[in-house]
Amino acid sequence: MKDTQLHELLQQMTTNEKAEQMSQVVSMLVQSHSETGKITGPIAAMDVAKEDMSKSGSILGASGAKTLKQIQKNYMERHRLNIPLLFMADVIHGYKTVFPVPLALGCSWDLSAVEKSAEIAAKEASAAGLHVTFSPMADLVRDPRWGRVMESTGEDPYLNSEFARAFVRGYQGEDLEQDTDRIAACVKHFAAYGASEGGRDYNTVDMSERQLREYYMPAYEAALEEGAEMVMTAFNTVDGIPATSNRHLMRTVLRNELKFNGVLISDWGAVQETVPHGVAANNREAALKSALAGVDIDMMTPCYKQHLTSLVDSGELSEAVLDEAVLRILQLKQKLGLFDHPYRGADEKREEQLILSDEHRTKARELAAKSSVLLKNDGVLPLNTTQRVALIGPFTDSTDLLGRWAIFGEPADVVTLKTGLTKQLTAVETAAGCDIESITDAQISEARKTADNADVIILALGEPSELSGEAGSKTDIRLSEAQMHLVRSMRELNKPIITILFNGRPLDLRGILDESDAIIEAWFPGTEGGHAVADLLTGAANPSGKLTMSFPYTVGQIPVYYNAFKTGRPKEDLDPNDRYASKYMDAPNEPLFPFGFGLSYSEFTYGDARLSSNDLQPGGSLELSVDVKNTSGITGEETVQMYIRDLVGEVVRPVLELKGFEKIRLEPGEAKIVTFSIHEDLLKYHHHDLAYKADSGDFIASVGTDSQTLQHLRFSYKTHSSVTETVLEERYT
Ligand code: GLC
Repeated sequence: MKDTQLHELLQQMTTNEKAEQMSQVVSMLVQSHSETGKITGPIAAMDVAKEDMSKSGSILGASGAKTLKQIQKNYMERHRLNIPLLFMADVIHGYKTVFPVPLALGCSWDLSAVEKSAEIAAKEASAAGLHVTFSPMADLVRDPRWGRVMESTGEDPYLNSEFARAFVRGYQGEDLEQDTDRIAACVKHFAAYGASEGGRDYNTVDMSERQLREYYMPAYEAALEEGAEMVMTAFNTVDGIPATSNRHLMRTVLRNELKFNGVLISDWGAVQETVPHGVAANNREAALKSALAGVDIDMMTPCYKQHLTSLVDSGELSEAVLDEAVLRILQLKQKLGLFDHPYRGADEKREEQLILSDEHRTKARELAAKSSVLLKNDGVLPLNTTQRVALIGPFTDSTDLLGRWAIFGEPADVVTLKTGLTKQLTAVETAAGCDIESITDAQISEARKTADNADVIILALGEPSELSGEAGSKTDIRLSEAQMHLVRSMRELNKPIITILFNGRPLDLRGILDESDAIIEAWFPGTEGGHAVADLLTGAANPSGKLTMSFPYTVGQIPVYYNAFKTGRPKEDLDPNDRYASKYMDAPNEPLFPFGFGLSYSEFTYGDARLSSNDLQPGGSLELSVDVKNTSGITGEETVQMYIRDLVGEVVRPVLELKGFEKIRLEPGEAKIVTFSIHEDLLKYHHHDLAYKADSGDFIASVGTDSQTLQHLRFSYKTHSSVTETVLEERYT
């Protein structure tokens, strides 16, 4: 259908029909049938069930080729203008073949592997009838008390941007209309949801527009540059106004500045939530403000359905606002080819073939291994296959490895650690050791007995998946006391202890770190988790993951992140006994494990880094090179990281900023020269007046294996005109 035909269709629509297109509900409200759709937010409070929501322009949370074809057929038969439904859902890290949670995927630093995971997710989801995924979640995170850190790729704006691009490429491919194995991406949550105060979900976000643009916006912008078809609003306020009704954020910034002309959908209930936020007196005002802010679809509240028509009839809202919203929705349906093929990729047979195929499982297994991070290894790993192993802990045979936002994943499909390990090792004895929240003497004595006959103890510990994800906010980020008790009990046996962690956030690992001879952070590794962790334990896979979010020494340090400012009293520049420095009296400033950290079974040695020049000319570039050699006998992968520091800015500048990385694979004894190109774009930042540009001055380029193990090289850059003079002129004219 051409755009002109869409305009003609729009002309035929009543105001009510436009309001229907601008509403989205779970399928149970559209048609009374067994499939209710995955409920991922509150319903009762929205009073939605009582509303006549029988007609909406799109459905969320339902899936299954047979079900969705049935819903589409029934709906279109009833629809006066024969406009097809859009089917959307949260396919965040896989559909039925569930990949590791995104915070784990980020630790792979493998953009092509993550792109492939999104492509596989899209293929399975499209065959199951879905058209749009509410992914990538591109929120920058610095606070592990917030449960949704598991859904982010971490604390760095550049790395998050690269992953957001990879997800969009994987989901959407090159041509959504022709390639029905792809689905549309919806980047979320616009904006800065990851900065919820206190790590408490849905809480206030308040920061300068400069901070927002410098750290929190880049990944959303990257997803849009990559062509993401949709954006979802965030629950939180931005500068005192809920994002969902924030006209500056949505009209001025998103629509006009970022030139986004796709569909903007609210988060679940977020239109109506502008009432409890206190910027709308009632649902009617909530509908008005969100529509004026440019929100095209109201997810799971009756506001638009109930009030848009009367707002237009009363003259408070121009019908043109509805027309632009509905046209965007119709254009998305057109781009997905739904007018000609309303069932699009839905295909029961193909669904059967694709879901959890061997190929998909193999990719999930490989990526789960790449996403795990070896935090400690006193030489006890990898195991040799003759060793007798005691596998103990509440995650020994747990299927709770999918993590949150795996709403279509089935625990029954999960490979547990016990299953994975017993396939590769002959002598594995298991014991629960404890439950997540409780431990008994009987469990301890059984664990001791099991460990007695073993050469090495593997502890499978972690957080139940419901303790992270949406509304999974915690003030205590340690493992449960029962598990800590188990660790202490096992430590008394004086046998090597390898701890495997299954969790969705950085944890406070005091009481685990010293008691373990090795630690693998497996996160929630997905459907193939057991196989992947077993591969790492036996050396069938060599750990290569690197943290993309700092592990705090204690929750009291939060927020702790690598790209922080130096302050005027940097502890490292002052006498350690000097009280008057920026430091704690009862804890270090540094995290327990820093951004970019991760060990390997290989040994990588870095030669002397060098710069092609110490002067960067405007329009020119410098090369930073370093030799990396695998001095071990084990093939491995190393992510070489390059950071830049601006020594003097117009505003304070971070002590480090990731500006490049390369993941290399080296055979035993093999060496490679890794080279990064440094140019003006890498030096740009938002100035006090939000101008995004580079200054003249001195910089430090750093390269190494993590954000605290680096070689530093100084260089200078001179722009054509110096910002300092401009600022001086402003001040003194
Ligand atoms: C949830 C989440 C959002 C998700 C949406 C639909 O509340 O905040 O990320 O996409 O509702 O399930």
